[in-house]
Amino acid sequence: MSHDGPMDRRRSVQVIAVTGGKGGVGKSTLSINLATGFALGGRKTLLLDGDLGLANADVMLGVTPKYTLGDVISGDRSLEEVLTPVRPNLSIVAGASGISALAGLGEAEHIGIVRAFSSLVDDIDVLVVDTPAGISAGVLQLTQAAQHIIVVVCDEPASVTDAYAVIKVLSAEHSIRHFKVVTNMTRSGGSGTQLFATLLKVTNRFLDVVLEHAADIPDDDFLRRAIREQRSVIDAYPGSAAGAALKRLVSKASQWEAPHGSRGNIEFFAERLVAPSGRRLQVIK
Ligand SMILES: Nc1ncnc2c1ncn2[C@@H]1O[C@H](COP(=O)(O)OP(=O)(O)OP(=O)(O)O)[C@@H](O)[C@H]1O
Ligand SMILES: [Mg+2]
Repeated sequence: MSHDGPMDRRRSVQVIAVTGGKGGVGKSTLSINLATGFALGGRKTLLLDGDLGLANADVMLGVTPKYTLGDVISGDRSLEEVLTPVRPNLSIVAGASGISALAGLGEAEHIGIVRAFSSLVDDIDVLVVDTPAGISAGVLQLTQAAQHIIVVVCDEPASVTDAYAVIKVLSAEHSIRHFKVVTNMTRSGGSGTQLFATLLKVTNRFLDVVLEHAADIPDDDFLRRAIREQRSVIDAYPGSAAGAALKRLVSKASQWEAPHGSRGNIEFFAERLVAPSGRRLQVIK
């Protein structure tokens, strides 16, 4: 744990949300690999599993969290107590019911959440947020709070449509302009570039947003094998095509800078998480 001076207390914690609209495009796969990649690189990482589905990030990493964010919201546990260690530099917190409950919380609970996350500021360098499929209020709330948003898209018409819909809502309702796009499960060289171009064409035509093609992850049997072994491919098969592409994404993402000042701290994330309208909460320290 670092003991920074008061000036450094609000040091930057990188917050990256992974979303995509459509189910099964590889959001959780990307999240666990990003998180593992950061951890292997020596950055203290927390993976917030906002997924309610069966192929949860925790299952993918072979751990079983005992508590969820819901236990923090209800006041039964501290955030530290609900963190499940996965490996050196990596812990996971299960969102589960906590995420869907976010919308119905009162001010006191909001402040509790903000405090809980803010208390992590000295303990983590990066927070990776895996979101469930769909464009529900909970997913949007979770996503818009992050500093960097990764939209995962694969080569299926429904995936492109859903990615577009997510970007549209986030830009229209939350004034978010910058999106990192990861094309996933592509089957030939160049098809990821083409897929990105397809998405870019529609967003350029109808929305005022900036898309960056952050990575192209090929369809890779090693990745499926790693999932069966409950490991991240970046760790189990780093030399595989998917593993190498993910490693490149990790080093790229480590360099991503906050779009503007205050978006780079975890307190900001927590505040936006509970009050997406931008209403600032008075948190008494
Ligand atoms: N690059 C890839 N190569 C091969 N298989 C992949 C790749 N990415 C994902 N998959 C496969 O797709 C499956 C679904 O991925 P994942 O669970 O990450 O999707 P998801 O978007 O999180 O789904 P959900 O919306 O249900 O949460 C994985 O179990 C894996 O088998
Ligand atoms: Mg998932």
